[in-house]
Amino acid sequence: MRQPLIAGNWKMNGTRSSVETLLLSVISGASAISKTEIAVCPSFPFLELGERLLTGTTIKLGAQNICTKEVGAYTGEVSANMLAEFSCQYVICGHSERREYYGETDTIIAEKVSICVKKGMKAILCVGETLSQREQEQTESVIESQLENVIKQLGIDIFNHIDIAYEPVWAIGTGKTATPEQAQNVHGFIRQKIAIHNTVIAEKIRILYGGSMKAENAHDLLSQSDIDGGLIGGASLIANDFLAICHAGDAVASQN
Ligand code: 13P
Repeated sequence: MRQPLIAGNWKMNGTRSSVETLLLSVISGASAISKTEIAVCPSFPFLELGERLLTGTTIKLGAQNICTKEVGAYTGEVSANMLAEFSCQYVICGHSERREYYGETDTIIAEKVSICVKKGMKAILCVGETLSQREQEQTESVIESQLENVIKQLGIDIFNHIDIAYEPVWAIGTGKTATPEQAQNVHGFIRQKIAIHNTVIAEKIRILYGGSMKAENAHDLLSQSDIDGGLIGGASLIANDFLAICHAGDAVASQN
């Protein structure tokens, strides 16, 4: 059985004081969560605060990006060693906002996954189609190519160290969620594609859903057989909303 993962992607939000308040509220509420793994991914400047407050709790710390290079003259970048030094256990790789606004290609994303795993952290590899791609019935071909490019570059075994997040771009920050059936169809497709390469990894790998997941729809989404958690944007910035999604993860895990 796959343990649900609920991860908060805080994106470029918060101040030192609001992040501290949010962390403390999530920490206090998380003591009631027993079956769901929880992770939060604040912006780089707040990683030290995250590490300090989360030490001794069950909540994991993650980063939202990573440099493909190990060290050196790469102005503005943050290395895998730096993230590991601040106790990051997860790194979001290939988020659609990075693909769209910062020109990250499948090749660059695979390099990010590689360095992250090499330094002992787990990558959350994001895949997903845009609205126009969905309307042109290209969802499966887009996702297949996003996955296959990583497999071609790094091999299937790297997927032992990856959680996948299916994030339909049209559902991110729009309030428009994929229906549980739409999401399940794509999650099932992703698992099938992985299974062509390795059935053990396919059975084990967690596939999270991301895109306007919130307290009201989390239970229905998480109940789907191939949805193993959530990568939460907006709702993760409000402790009670995020914790409600974690409770939905626990409720579904108890039924299985
Ligand atoms: P929202 O939950 O705000 O739609 O964001 C999803 C997301 O991009 C998580 O990475």
